[in-house]
Amino acid sequence: MSNNLLTAAYILASALFILSLGGLSDQETARKGNIYGIIGMLIAFIATALSLNLTAYPTLASVVIPGTVIGTIVASRVAMTSMPELVAILHSFVGAAAVLVGIANYLQQSLHISPVESTIHQIEIFVGVFIGAVTFTGSLIAFGKLRGIISSKPLLLPGRHFINLGIIAACVWLGVQFLATENGSGLQPLLIMSAIASVLGIHLVMAIGGADMPVVISMLNSYSGWAAAAAGFMLSNDLLIVTGALVGSSGAILSYIMCKAMNRSFISVILGGFGAETGAATIKGDEQHAGEVNVTTVEDTVELLHNAKSVIIVPGYGMAVAQAQHAVSQITKLLRDRGVDIRFGIHPVAGRMPGHMNVLLAEANVPYDIVLEMDEINSDFAKTDVVLVIGANDTVNPSALENPNSPIAGMPVLEVWQAGTVVVMKRSMASGYAGVENPLFYKNNTRMLFGDAKKNVDAIASKLGQMSEESVDLHLSTKVVLST
Ligand code: TAP
Repeated sequence: MSNNLLTAAYILASALFILSLGGLSDQETARKGNIYGIIGMLIAFIATALSLNLTAYPTLASVVIPGTVIGTIVASRVAMTSMPELVAILHSFVGAAAVLVGIANYLQQSLHISPVESTIHQIEIFVGVFIGAVTFTGSLIAFGKLRGIISSKPLLLPGRHFINLGIIAACVWLGVQFLATENGSGLQPLLIMSAIASVLGIHLVMAIGGADMPVVISMLNSYSGWAAAAAGFMLSNDLLIVTGALVGSSGAILSYIMCKAMNRSFISVILGGFGAETGAATIKGDEQHAGEVNVTTVEDTVELLHNAKSVIIVPGYGMAVAQAQHAVSQITKLLRDRGVDIRFGIHPVAGRMPGHMNVLLAEANVPYDIVLEMDEINSDFAKTDVVLVIGANDTVNPSALENPNSPIAGMPVLEVWQAGTVVVMKRSMASGYAGVENPLFYKNNTRMLFGDAKKNVDAIASKLGQMSEESVDLHLSTKVVLST
């Protein structure tokens, strides 16, 4: 393939990646965005493969074929609730690739470049390997925390900020040593830096508590983008630079949005638990609730819904675990058919990944226009008859607003308790992801409907369905009586 054709293919792929990001920012265009991304990646892959020498094909096939098979199997088997773990481990691959590409690139340096070009190239390699190593080990720790292999509690070593600063200072010093070397003799400082940057990645993410994990995931997403962009500079591959920059900047913007949604300072999160003594990462200071809860039944909940004029459904991680979205969609349809004003309230960090609830509701064909963001719906709870909280916990916790000592203090939440009646569906009194007690369960207008969300929502849908059929039958027989 000629260079011009390759450049044209890369420009087309870059344009498709930008269109893809644009599409993914809205539910209605998300599918289209995904397809743009797939086509862009196919063009990029085919163009790159065609630009290689025929002799490189066996090597390419030896990695692409097993990679495709493993990727297809893993992606088709992964449960939606395990997606963040998969994303975390994939980020670690990008980090590892940047480290390996950097080291291989250094060992295979071109002799035909000027001293200035050589210095720039060495800086690219050093920075790329540094970001790659931090991303690699940081993502492995994030994977471990999300999977529950590693405790989600923050590891707060004494003087941890000085440890981080010391590691960064040592890396800068090694960088100076690396740049001072000639003819490929800088492998030692490069490898030592890789090792200590790996320790930095571990330490940074170990210090972040469970409640801040959404930010960590998007932050590592951003790092993996910058690592890919650095690899693009090393390999002089423009497409990799563009793609890496797109992932890096969109990940950074997402991290900022997440921080805003959780009222956390971005700097304090990336500094690894800075301020965690009073922040989201510890469960110290959380009040222990002792009180009575009102337990309800499926029948009473159906009765409540039957008499309600306005209903808001607030889904959370438990709806995803129970896979209750299709039954929820059925309830929505039945209530809408009866003229009930039914809408959904979505918290930005509900579930375990950005947009988790939106994806599930879209999959179950819930109309997009009744799925509202937290800011759009929060003021409407006070005017709502019934709120159904389905497997949500931290995102509806009033202590975020009412208790300044709460680990989640300051995080904006869905103010469901303002509604007439709140039905909370979960299996027990257990806390949510952040490990924080929830005073919502003890409020006078709250009814706890214990049990698996799918089982309960199915039962509610079936009883509402029966009621609708009965009212249609009654309506028909009344018509018959009137007409005779
Ligand atoms: P959570 O606070 O995690 O609570 C989920 C609740 O679902 C649990 O209390 C659990 O209670 C219940 N549950 C689990 N399985 C269930 C089932 N089969 N049927 C019924 N209920 C079930 O959920 P949330 O309100 O969505 O908040 C999300 C949390 O995850 C936040 O703390 C957020 O910071 C964190 N997080 C979010 C992300 C992103 S990007 N969204 C990423 C990582 C972490 P029982 O055990 O009693 O049933």
